[in-house]
Amino acid sequence: MSLLLSPVEIAGLSLKNRVVMPPMCMYEVKAEDGLPTAFHHAHYGARAIGGVGLIIQEATAVEPDGRLSKYDLGIWTDEQAQALAKLVSELKAFGSKVGIQLSHGGRKAKDAELPLAPTALAFNQDYKVPQEMTLEDIERVQSAFVAAAARAAQAGYDMIEIHGAHGYLVNQFLEPLTNQRTDAYGGSLENRFRFLKEIIEGVKAVFTGPVWVRLSVTAYDETGQQNTLQDYQQIAKWLEELGVACLDISTGGVMDTRPNIPIYGGYQAGFSAKIKEVVSIPVTAVGLLNSPELGEYILQNGQADLIQVGRGLIRNVNWLAEAAEVLHDHDFQVYNASYQRGQVK
Ligand SMILES: Cc1cc2nc3c(=O)[nH]c(=O)nc-3n(C[C@H](O)[C@H](O)[C@H](O)COP(=O)(O)O)c2cc1C
Repeated sequence: MSLLLSPVEIAGLSLKNRVVMPPMCMYEVKAEDGLPTAFHHAHYGARAIGGVGLIIQEATAVEPDGRLSKYDLGIWTDEQAQALAKLVSELKAFGSKVGIQLSHGGRKAKDAELPLAPTALAFNQDYKVPQEMTLEDIERVQSAFVAAAARAAQAGYDMIEIHGAHGYLVNQFLEPLTNQRTDAYGGSLENRFRFLKEIIEGVKAVFTGPVWVRLSVTAYDETGQQNTLQDYQQIAKWLEELGVACLDISTGGVMDTRPNIPIYGGYQAGFSAKIKEVVSIPVTAVGLLNSPELGEYILQNGQADLIQVGRGLIRNVNWLAEAAEVLHDHDFQVYNASYQRGQVK
């Protein structure tokens, strides 16, 4: 049996395999009310039937102006949480574990009337200049993350991921390029980490399941002003000390610059391995892991503990069944006997 498709108890979760569907915004909330639609039930349901071990729901906003676009899902009201609870119970019934990525776009919340950010610097000329957050704003947004986590607990999610990557609000606090504050939330790495630290402390007080954090460990910046990989190794150690269950390692999105690292299958896995060197909690790999053999290689070599397949799962809901064929994994079970008949070619 392959590692990729074998069950595992990891990061506080009992998973039927090591394939994770990473958060991917679908911009399908056409009513702009943050509520899931028939699309979300079909979209996630298909991946659950397809056998994904853990589905992490797309970036879900903790407050309306934290949405990356007005078509995003939200969890800032009880009504939204109740609607999401139905989705969660359906997906679990198909055998997947289900998580939610809690998110705030900060200066990249394109549809916000007055986006907030640690510092009043626009992402680029197509984005509004954000308003620098006051200490009250900071406390309010942190409370919104905590309230969202409490609703996520009620909705039945198995895990929460805090979106600390891709240049959204938490990432904006972490990076000196976007955080030029002179108070307790800016300056040293420790100060820039404070916003995330306090969110995690609050979230962990209301959500007893595993809390993960997604980080962008390079901002793709060449001015010499970005956090270094060593800075992110330090952040990873702090997150482990705070009781974070798993680190989801990604890159980019902070500045309006194109990747300055080579892009190839598994291009971010080396970063996962570097973070794994300094922590003992599990670490995931993501980024063009379309080949099951590549995912298996990364697991077998201990570069990461879980493999996330994003666009591959958008293209192919049967990614896992096909992975089983590629890996000659005869133990993998498709959803039911009728689906088994579909395997005969
Ligand atoms: C359509 C789309 C939407 C995405 N939305 C999110 C998101 O909501 N949150 C996030 O952290 N990353 C998001 N991402 C990044 C993915 O989670 C993943 O890290 C990236 O696509 C690389 O993995 P892949 O090569 O397997 O697709 C998105 C990617 C795509 C393609």
